[in-house]
Amino acid sequence: MIGVFDSGLGGLTVLAALTRRFPEQPFIYLGDHAHVPYGNRPSEEIIDLTRASVEALFRRGCKLVVLGCNTATAVAARRLQQTWLPATLWKADGYNVVGIVAPTVEAATQTPWAVTTPQYPQKFLTDRIAVFGTTRTIASNVYAEEIRKRCPKVTVVQQVCSELAGAIEQGAKEVELERLVQTGIDGAVAQAGGEALHRAILGCTHFPLVEHLFRRHLPPATRILSQPEIVADSLEDYLSRHPHYRSNGSVEGAVLFTTGDPDEASERARIFAGDGPRFRRYED
Ligand code: DGL
Repeated sequence: MIGVFDSGLGGLTVLAALTRRFPEQPFIYLGDHAHVPYGNRPSEEIIDLTRASVEALFRRGCKLVVLGCNTATAVAARRLQQTWLPATLWKADGYNVVGIVAPTVEAATQTPWAVTTPQYPQKFLTDRIAVFGTTRTIASNVYAEEIRKRCPKVTVVQQVCSELAGAIEQGAKEVELERLVQTGIDGAVAQAGGEALHRAILGCTHFPLVEHLFRRHLPPATRILSQPEIVADSLEDYLSRHPHYRSNGSVEGAVLFTTGDPDEASERARIFAGDGPRFRRYED
């Protein structure tokens, strides 16, 4: 079983790409709706919440957990992978957790994560890349640092969209979402000094839900990188190298858990599909 985690609904954008790519693979999703949004919380709190949810998914039999959340990945992934997990019995039993920043950086730089120095021709790439994310993701600086390591001539413009994930979770009206997207894009364009933005990373898994609004307001020549598809590509590669995490079974969609109110989460999830996926309450 593979687990997918997000602070709320955003990870469903990743889950949808994964279930399309691996139709035989059982997935369990956990949305921490009791604590969403994560994006403006202190880092230590995000680390504790992410660890608790990863452990909850481990306990449900997910040997591999994908953090379907940029904030959790940017703030907590390294700590969980390098400090917490090795000190637990989970590690000895082969449980693992992977984040979504690395595959996104790989796609943006066309450079494998393991390669951390500029290679030809990326060395000479002079693109301008805009990254939109939560306060904590942008404050972590992880996208800018990791992209520049591989492509030092690339300009990374980082734009905080502090209210957007929360507004999506709250089911805000399209006009309000559009205003928040427009404000974010204006900020990025101003930071770029009006120069062209070649690519945009929607560095929050909630944002693909309003990708049409980003598309509407970004210059037509700006390419939006689709993080859910990137994560599916990356998981495919990971599973080909670690096939023991793969399991086959006839599955009728993923099982969705929430730490919050299942009816509310299911109702909000209708933003993804008319008849909406159903959440169950997560209980230990
Ligand atoms: N979906 C999350 C992300 O990718 C977090 C949004 C939030 O909880 O603030 O950053």
